[in-house]
Amino acid sequence: MKILVTGGAGFIGSHTLVELNAAGHETVVVDNLCNSDRKALDRVAELVGHEIPFNEVDIRDREGLSHVMEAHHFDACIHFAGLKAVGESVEKPWEYYENNIGGTLVLLDVMRHHGCKNIVFSSSATVYGDPAIIPITEACPKGHCTNPYGQTKSMLEDIMMDMQRADKEWNIVLLRYFNPIGAHPSGRIGENPNGIPNNLMPYVTQVAVGKRPELGVFGDDYPTSDGTGVRDYIHVVDLAKGHVAALKAIERHCGCAIYNLGTGKGYSVLDVVKTFEKVNGIKIPYSIKQRRAGDIATCYSDPTKAEKELGWKAQYGLEEMCRDSWNWQRNNPNGY
Ligand code: NAD
Ligand code: UFG
Repeated sequence: MKILVTGGAGFIGSHTLVELNAAGHETVVVDNLCNSDRKALDRVAELVGHEIPFNEVDIRDREGLSHVMEAHHFDACIHFAGLKAVGESVEKPWEYYENNIGGTLVLLDVMRHHGCKNIVFSSSATVYGDPAIIPITEACPKGHCTNPYGQTKSMLEDIMMDMQRADKEWNIVLLRYFNPIGAHPSGRIGENPNGIPNNLMPYVTQVAVGKRPELGVFGDDYPTSDGTGVRDYIHVVDLAKGHVAALKAIERHCGCAIYNLGTGKGYSVLDVVKTFEKVNGIKIPYSIKQRRAGDIATCYSDPTKAEKELGWKAQYGLEEMCRDSWNWQRNNPNGY
């Protein structure tokens, strides 16, 4: 298939480009580079053996996007482009709604005007809020999102489902990611956060590389095995392969389909720290801090629907995730 990849220069997008090309798909990237580096695409080209056509276009730019859609005949779009920092979204809600919702509305409109009505959307486990059921199945009701970022994901899911109800030509696959970490095993592409990392694994690797003195563990009094928060960490290469598998749903005209992409296993913050230390032979100093506002105790998936319907199952475990995160950081201490 010929796929438009929005946000393809980012963390998950760049890994997905590698897997899409390995599976024989043709890809064209649109990204405004607001949270990524052009070099990521050079590294992807190196891994797949050919250039990836790239357009530095903002998805809110209707004309720019139309130009790209006219130049190609896309079978589907995989839509990663969006702002994703939870804390920043609380400070700048308008910017998050305008970029994520405004941008996606423009994208959907330009797509339908060009007769491309197939989309795979990057949603998030955050839409479950504090989940009513653990492990979380797709039947679990959506919950209250405590921040504007999560709201944009939840609202965009609703918008796309309404569009599909009104126009059955649309095929919409909503992928709810759990916690992506790790990097390509080559160490050539990986996560490249700006400033102080918000997420656990990039913080751990920056402590390991000596950029930060210690990790703050946000709370040790949750109702979990060791009191620290439990999450379903998934290797980004497995997540990337989940997008290739999701195209199967589009091929069989799924209408609207929702899949959890996770491993089904929950690990605590201290499990991650200990596994990282063991696999990489590096000590990670940490101290216990206050709980972080908006965090929940436990969040992990039941990923059986994706296995049954898409034939997709995560292959990598926490050890490989820790190994590959470190391999990336060690080889690229300052990112790209
Ligand atoms: P990322 O920031 O690395 O990638 C997003 C890309 O989108 C960046 O390259 C950025 O420059 C681009 N972008 C942002 N706004 C744009 C716009 N208006 N026009 C064009 N390009 C734009 O983030 P990621 O971790 O790769 O996440 C990809 C998607 O998955 C996002 O939608 C994110 O919300 C979602 N997601 C991520 C996680 C996670 O933990 N990483 C979890 C759940 C869902
Ligand atoms: N944590 C720490 N110290 C840190 C960073 C995180 O102890 O410096 C803890 C958190 O409290 C939590 C766990 O590590 O218990 C994971 O935190 P992350 O920030 O890595 O991930 P979250 O589960 O909070 O959220 C991430 C993304 C969201 C996405 C969600 C999907 O940031 O955008 O996963 O499950 F929606």
